[in-house]
Amino acid sequence: MALLCTGRLLASPRLAAAATRASSWWSHVEMGPPDPILGVTEAFKRDTNSKKMNLGVGAYRDDSGKPYVLNCVRKAEAMIASKKMDKEYLPIGGLADFTRASAELALGENSEVLKSGRYVTVQGISGTGSLRIGASFLQRFFKSSRDVYLPKPSWGNHTPIFRDAGLQLQAYRYYDPKTCSLDFSGAMDDISKIPEKSIILLHACAHNPTGVDPRQEQWKEVAALVKKRNLLVYFDMAYQGFASGDINRDAWAVRYFIDQGINVLISQSYAKNMGLYGERAGAFTMICSNAEEAKRVESQLKILIRPMYSNPPLNGARIASIILNTPDIRKEWLVEVKGMADRIISMRTQLVSNLKKEGSSHNWQHITDQIGMFCFTGLKPEQVERLIKEFSIYMTKDGRISVAGVTSGNVGYLAHAIHQVTK
Ligand SMILES: Cc1ncc(COP(=O)(O)O)c(C=O)c1O
Repeated sequence: MALLCTGRLLASPRLAAAATRASSWWSHVEMGPPDPILGVTEAFKRDTNSKKMNLGVGAYRDDSGKPYVLNCVRKAEAMIASKKMDKEYLPIGGLADFTRASAELALGENSEVLKSGRYVTVQGISGTGSLRIGASFLQRFFKSSRDVYLPKPSWGNHTPIFRDAGLQLQAYRYYDPKTCSLDFSGAMDDISKIPEKSIILLHACAHNPTGVDPRQEQWKEVAALVKKRNLLVYFDMAYQGFASGDINRDAWAVRYFIDQGINVLISQSYAKNMGLYGERAGAFTMICSNAEEAKRVESQLKILIRPMYSNPPLNGARIASIILNTPDIRKEWLVEVKGMADRIISMRTQLVSNLKKEGSSHNWQHITDQIGMFCFTGLKPEQVERLIKEFSIYMTKDGRISVAGVTSGNVGYLAHAIHQVTK
């Protein structure tokens, strides 16, 4: 403080700032790196080129590049408004109609698990919050291992979600950059060496960031292997319906594993398949051995959730619940989710045909083989750099593009630019 009392030193902003830092509680807090995806968006916003494209952000856009609110969501909102519903707290585990319908969506309506009641589903704060509930439960109750095995690569947030919950991250091979497709033998080889009773995370469909999923025959082999190795399987299902356009097809792996007697954990998100991004509607499900075990697990999940956020947000769960539980609106949702998936699939095809038209001689088949919102293009960091600098086309350095950001209006420009940096 004495330093600050001399007029000469006060006149030096640098010294004054240093003195303030030294007297602060938080002087040891270092500047953290910006989020890589938000960094892409910031750079995109600053760009004045009228042809600029933001292929970094993982949110659906319609064919004119605009955010899309589903009609079924508008209808559910109108119902909520017309009924003048209250704003009371939800129970700790969330809205019961929503959690039941979420379990049914994941497991299928004829699921033996639903009938026997050997499961528990709690509402989560979208996919991320649901994953975090599961991670915290594992940290507290999974005694045989601290290790969570993630595919390499995986969604960037998986690592901090599990790490911040107190677990350790390991990896298994998943993607082969040489073929831009699944490294199935590498994955099987690595999984076969995972110590028994460890945790393995699997993307149920539309793997993020690669867009590469195992085929059903391959899923069967993975299921047999994780069963043999006695691994605890945690499915992240953030894109049900959004990948193929069919909610049942996208849940195939989850249901197959359960049919094989594997008691999985599942995180669900309604961000993508209902476009409820900011509403934060999601669910976390644990399949148990019997209904009595499920009750005990449920009681502990509530004990975990209560000090985190007391109870989950109401509005998004209400919207999703109305959509899932009202036959007419549900039907409309299924058409709309298929519409989004189909538009993305069509953009993949158009991108490849435009690349051919440009005269590109590369094999771009992986673009159409991959599924979901993201495409791992195989572009190298220096090519991505050129796309940004010379064409104002923004994406993450790993060459991942959000196909949702491609439209019939800009697919030609994108193909032209990719050809220019790859020829
Ligand atoms: C693989 C994966 N899991 C989970 C999420 C969770 O998203 P949210 O928390 O918005 O539901 C995402 C979103 O991008 C994702 O890609």
